[in-house]
Parts: sequence; C-alpha cells; structure tokens
Amino acid sequence: MNPQKKLHDWYLFNKRDLPFRKKKQAYPIWISEVMLQQTRVAAMLPLFENFLKRFPNPETLASATEEEVLSYWKGLGYYSRARNLRKAAIQLVNQYNGSFPKDLDLVLKLPGIGNYTARAVLSIAYDLPHAVLDGNVKRVLSRYFGYTENILGPKADLHLQTKADEFLNQSSPGDHNQAMMELGATICLPESPKCLLCPLLDGCFARIHGKTSEIPIREKQKKQIFLQGEIWVFQKDDLILLIKEKENRFLKGMFHLPSGFIGEVPNELYSPSDFVLFLRSQWKTLPSLGTIKHTITHHKLEYSVLFLPVADSKELETKLDSLGVEWKWVGFEQLESEFPSSLAKKVKKILLY
Ligand code: ADE
Ligand code: SF4
Repeated sequence: MNPQKKLHDWYLFNKRDLPFRKKKQAYPIWISEVMLQQTRVAAMLPLFENFLKRFPNPETLASATEEEVLSYWKGLGYYSRARNLRKAAIQLVNQYNGSFPKDLDLVLKLPGIGNYTARAVLSIAYDLPHAVLDGNVKRVLSRYFGYTENILGPKADLHLQTKADEFLNQSSPGDHNQAMMELGATICLPESPKCLLCPLLDGCFARIHGKTSEIPIREKQKKQIFLQGEIWVFQKDDLILLIKEKENRFLKGMFHLPSGFIGEVPNELYSPSDFVLFLRSQWKTLPSLGTIKHTITHHKLEYSVLFLPVADSKELETKLDSLGVEWKWVGFEQLESEFPSSLAKKVKKILLY
C-alpha cells in the first residue's frame, strides 16, 4: 500500500468529528480555516457555531456591519481576520454570485486569503489538487522526507511546498491535507512523536535514521544589525581609488571603495580600519553626496557617500603602503567590474545624479 493510502485510511478511522467537516461547503470551511489559523480547535468551536448561526452564508456576512461582525469575533483575537472575512464576503457576492471561485489565483486575490487558506478551502471543499503547508505539515514533511535545511529560512516554504505537492493524494486532496494536519497535531508531535502509531512510519526518513529530535531544523533568524557608515570616493583625473584590506568585516579579499562604520559597532570586527581613521583625521567634515542602503545577510547598512577630488595622491598612497593596504586607481567605467558588488552600482548612481 502506498503511503498516501495508508495515511488516508488512518485519517478516515481517526479523524476528529468536527462540525466544519460535516459538509463539503466552501463557506463554512473557509470560516473555520481562518478561525483555526491562530486559535486551537477547542477554543474556536463555540464561536464558530455562533458565527455561522448569525452569518450562515456570504450574503449575510457581506450585508452585516463591520462592528457586528467584530462582535462575533470576540475572544478570537487578530481582528483583522474578521474585517477581511467581511470584505472578502462582499467580493464573493459582488463578483462571484456568492460562491467561492474554483481557481487558486482568483481565490488568492480575495482579502485576507493567503496560500494556506486558499489551498485549504479549494482542496477540502472542491477536492482540487492543492497541497497545504502549515506548521504541522512542515514538520511531518521534513521528517518524512529528511529535509535538513532550516525550516524557518527564506527558501524552506518553496522547497516544502514542492514536496507537499508531490506527496499529495490526487484522488482525495481534501482528506489528504486534513490528514497531514491531523497527523502533525496528534501523532507527529514536536517533542516525542508517536511514531509507532504513525501510518507513515515505514518510509519516514527521520524515524528510520533516528533523527526525529533533530528534524525539523528551526533556526531563528539572527537579530538584525543596523550600521551607519561612510564610503569615500577619491577621484584623480578620471580615476577612482580602490583598496584591498586584510581586515574587513565584509569585503575581505576584494578591491573596494574605502569605507568604514560610524559610531557604536557590535564588536571590533566592525571597527573602522586604520586607513579610515586616518581619512577621518584628515578630512573632518565632508559634505555627503547622498546615502545608499545595502543589506548583507542580517546587516542593514546605510552609507553616506563622500566625494573627494584629489590633485596629488602621493600622501594617500604613502599612507596606504605604510599600512600594508593594497590600492589601485581604476576608471569610472570599470568601477563595477573592479569592485563587483551591488554597492558599486549604487555609488555610481549617486555620482551620476
Ligand atoms: N488545522 C487547521 N485546519 C485544519 C483542518 N481542516 N484539519 C485539521 N487540522 C486543522
Ligand atoms: Fe512523524 Fe514519526 Fe510518523 Fe515520521 S514516523 S512522520 S517522525 S510520527
């Protein structure tokens, strides 16, 4: 038996008897999925029943005042969800005769409906082949397929969506999606998953390799570091000075425009080099041509661009030599090829302005 079929059988036998699972109707399924996004099943059930009694279809929801809709959302929090439900209901009534379009792209255009909600509603209500990804599904998929990259990283959703799509049971997408969520909520738990009760145990990478406590990998994004700095553009005739320093937090091993951070820095790795300290002592107040923003991993940098025409570069060059810093003068046109960073492009734009 293939794993999808085992999962399906498991689901049919073990699924919770929930009111929004009784009928395959897009409207109540939509409401329930939106409520479940930040609220546990037990907490949302009474409010769900109440909400549907007062607003049994898109028409009643669309014609209610926002205030009244919000009053039926009391206790659920994240009230923008309720405001968006009402707005989306108005669009459903005006554009689609009050019924949910059977097309992912159209559904994604409705207010408050993102990838998860759109896929959940279309698969559960219409059995359209769209696999969902939520926190539980991501955990199941990464364990089952042995996904060992950071699931909080920027590419994880894309990778896991591909896996989810491949793993989807094409003959019962709605049940499959709910089975994956239910498995994550009841069996494939974050700590101590109950693998012996799991319908996917045979083919599960993490289970086979004893890695259920290592997968998924959840590495929190590093804290953002904001830094202010200066970039010096020395111009001699049509040439611009580039240097290469041994110690530099970001541009090691590359010729670059002289630059340094200002003010408090997180540690000495970010401290201005001796050459930059020399420049600051020589030119205390220089007007800035403008500022550029630049991002390197979790660093948000903002540089003032300082422009300095020099007639005689001897002193600069002697200083650089004495500090053991390599240097060269390059043509303005060669700036980007000699200093291959998008910083060069941004500086050039300011100089041409
Ligand atoms: N969590 C959110 N929606 C769900 C659903 N339809 N089935 C199981 N768990 C869920
Ligand atoms: Fe999760 Fe264990 Fe099932 Fe693998 S076998 S999916 S780790 S519960």
